[in-house]
Amino acid sequence: MSQDKLVIFDTTLRDGEQSPGASMTKEEKIRIAKALEKMRVDVIEAGFPIASPGDFESVQAVARAVTESTVCGLARALDKDIDRVGEALKDARSARIHTFIATSPIHMERKLRMSPDEVVEQAVHAVKRARNYTDNVEFSAEDAGRSELDFLCRIFEAVIDAGARTLNVPDTVGYAMPHQFGETIRLLRERIPNADKAIFSVHCHNDLGLAVANSLSAVINGARQVECTINGLGERAGNAALEEIVMAVRTRRDMFNCDSGLDTTQIVSCSKLVSNITGFPVQPNKAIVGANAFAHESGIHQDGVLKHRETYEIMRAEDVGWTQNRMVLGKHSGRNAFRSRLIELGMTFASEEELNAAFARFKDLADKKHEVFDEDLQALVTAGGIEAENERIKLVSLKVCIETGETPTANLVLTFDGKEQAVAAGGGGPVDAAFKAIDSIIESGSELLLYSVNNITTGTDSQGEVTVRLQKAGHIVNGQGSDTDIVVASAKAYINALNKIMEPNARAHPQGDV
Ligand code: KIV
Ligand code: ZN
Repeated sequence: MSQDKLVIFDTTLRDGEQSPGASMTKEEKIRIAKALEKMRVDVIEAGFPIASPGDFESVQAVARAVTESTVCGLARALDKDIDRVGEALKDARSARIHTFIATSPIHMERKLRMSPDEVVEQAVHAVKRARNYTDNVEFSAEDAGRSELDFLCRIFEAVIDAGARTLNVPDTVGYAMPHQFGETIRLLRERIPNADKAIFSVHCHNDLGLAVANSLSAVINGARQVECTINGLGERAGNAALEEIVMAVRTRRDMFNCDSGLDTTQIVSCSKLVSNITGFPVQPNKAIVGANAFAHESGIHQDGVLKHRETYEIMRAEDVGWTQNRMVLGKHSGRNAFRSRLIELGMTFASEEELNAAFARFKDLADKKHEVFDEDLQALVTAGGIEAENERIKLVSLKVCIETGETPTANLVLTFDGKEQAVAAGGGGPVDAAFKAIDSIIESGSELLLYSVNNITTGTDSQGEVTVRLQKAGHIVNGQGSDTDIVVASAKAYINALNKIMEPNARAHPQGDV
């Protein structure tokens, strides 16, 4: 039996970035976009170009870096937004403009202060304008989950006539129930006379924990695009999780007459990348990508799995990219082996200098750590190393003294704009002392929003991976650092975050100023 294609539209870089604190730099967005492309995601929503010059540049950079997936930019149903997306996507091999306007009575009356007729007119105008840039135009009826069915039929029919080829039904506030949301999709497809000219899409938020269930119910009722994010990242309680949608559709083929065609073995590494970059940890019991998702603890389960795997396993861990920690490289590995393994892990280098710098960090690590795993290599690159050449602050050395009953002290040497400076400071603990030492030189005026430490692999010689989130004048950045010494990892993460927050182009919260 032939199966329909289920289009996977990933909005980690746009709606995902709207999670408070999840802002990403342009380079980080490119790295995630390349990982999504490698996973064969169909459409990557890269941002909201009108929101800020930084958003515009990121969408433009993703459009230039990605060749296999369609790159999409978001626009309100306004000429200036649409023109900005058109400009940002100019160099994309395959571009989509996604324009939206709210359609629920409460949004039309209270937020837009527009009549339903005016909303339809503006939507039609926006779609026509977007068609001047590309044939691939998506229209979203914001807050469709609380909109009237008759009005949705009316506006969708009109935008299809205007040239929209994807119609998105967002449950913007996470209000829908699965049976009712599925029924809405079925009725829309039945009642809209020109429905066959467009693909129906859904975009569900997780306020009641139903984003995935609502999306799947819509797919059963004929939706053929799902908008989702890695790890379910997103505004408030998040969006539908890509990995859950894709694996549910694949595992329960008997229920869904469609498949995504994604390379699911990329799921775990993509999840780790997004978690590292945003500083949003994945809970251990999270479906598919949580550390315990495939761990069988009880004796009965272990016994069953050993006798016959499918007694307790509905999916294979390796199908979503869980591998045994592998010692891929060691102290004696050469540059080519290092480069090849990183390419296999989806990481590339813009120049030979970058590769050389990363290789030097690898050699340092291999000296300290007996076994170097894929996760270590990923952290080596994610933890700020690649951009390090242009950073204003660089750690030269750190010595921390701790003794029971004594105040911890940190002796720190760093370079700031090329000038080497040394300082000593005490603190409540070794990390606190190191941060105070850094503060005494840098005086950034930023506020610490988050400090978190995770071990990258198992064992006491594992690297610690630290995320530091800073805020200054509405700008939020995440810094990462990894090292076998967690105090050094913390200092690296703090310095990485300070470098980002001092960049002239540091962005305010995405969509904060539109
Ligand atoms: O949640 C929402 O309604 C959105 C739209 C812009 C699609 O993110
Ligand atoms: Zn959304």
